Amino acid sequence: MKEANYRNFLKDAIRKELDFSGTEQNRGLPPPPVEKPFPAGGRVIALPGPDAWPNLGSLTVREAIEGRKSVRNYSRAPLALDELAFLLWATQGIRSRVIKGHAFRTVPSAGCRHSFETYLAVFRVAGLEKGLYRYLPLSHSLLCLESVKDLETAAAEAALGQGFVGAGAVTFIWTTLPARMEWRYGPASYKVIALDAGHVCQNLYLACRAVGAGTCAIAAYDQEKADALVGADGREEFVIYLAPVGKLPER
Ligand SMILES: Cc1cc2nc3c(=O)[nH]c(=O)nc-3n(C[C@H](O)[C@H](O)[C@H](O)COP(=O)(O)O)c2cc1C
Repeated sequence: MKEANYRNFLKDAIRKELDFSGTEQNRGLPPPPVEKPFPAGGRVIALPGPDAWPNLGSLTVREAIEGRKSVRNYSRAPLALDELAFLLWATQGIRSRVIKGHAFRTVPSAGCRHSFETYLAVFRVAGLEKGLYRYLPLSHSLLCLESVKDLETAAAEAALGQGFVGAGAVTFIWTTLPARMEWRYGPASYKVIALDAGHVCQNLYLACRAVGAGTCAIAAYDQEKADALVGADGREEFVIYLAPVGKLPER
């Protein structure tokens, strides 16, 4: 039955079937880079780090969890750069040093493989030009990417016409590079990649509460349009999840 095959994806039966001696890790091959490389000379913007925003995120965990909800209406107010930096740190920031191709982050990941890259469609962030960026977690900075015509419409169309995806202050677009996970887990990678994505987005929900913003997880999107928007090739890297973020509307 077709459903049974799809349901098997959710099980861990594959672990008993696989011969892990064939993985790249067990063949002694080096792990893929923890951060997608970028061309020398790329324009990089340093982000304020945790020392620069001691008062951000001081909501209690209980308050953040109690207030968590999906928000699809946003005010026109811009997000401050500190606030965006906090959201990026909360979702993919590096927690401690990089050892042999591993970097611990603020979210967990199976085998510490962290297969995601974070792209941002920035619409209204103080101090940033509207445009497409990629977060560089190793240096806590933003890489400026090629400009996209009518970014709001492109973002909404990438999300199957869900207009609010182009109506916030910034939309997070996460891609996965499965090779990072496959290096250790081979064909057992795909379920854990999906599980990992949930942690990232949940941290975004909670961190948004702490900066007076809201977000909404988006898993209904046009794969080809979303990949094209961020320049992912659709094979080695492709979009897995999106989340628009905006300040909460005035009451
Ligand atoms: C994996 C996942 C995918 C989702 N995809 C969408 C989406 O494409 N569009 C949307 O409007 N909401 C989406 N949502 C938000 C859910 O509709 C929302 O979480 C649910 O209605 C419960 O509301 P709450 O988050 O306020 O508790 C998604 C949520 C999750 C966890």
